[in-house]
Amino acid sequence: MKKIELEICQGTSCHLLGSQELFEAVLALPEKWRESIVLKRVDCLKSCRQGPNIRLDGEILSGLTAERLVLLLEEKFSLAAVGSA
Ligand code: FES
Repeated sequence: MKKIELEICQGTSCHLLGSQELFEAVLALPEKWRESIVLKRVDCLKSCRQGPNIRLDGEILSGLTAERLVLLLEEKFSLAAVGSA
């Protein structure tokens, strides 16, 4: 299965807007999912006012909550499971 590339902004604005909760949500995922994610911390994705921001497989997404991020990752995992069936 192709790994999911996830960058979470840890810049000051995103940090103040809750990016640490996004990290914690990813770290709390089941291990088999975490192993499929390449997780990186980045300094700024240039959308500071809309944070917290991530880049998921090349797409910048803004204003995320931990719940929304987990849903997005679940979608990616279920699509990957369908694709590999
Ligand atoms: S601090 Fe996160 S986009 Fe700038």
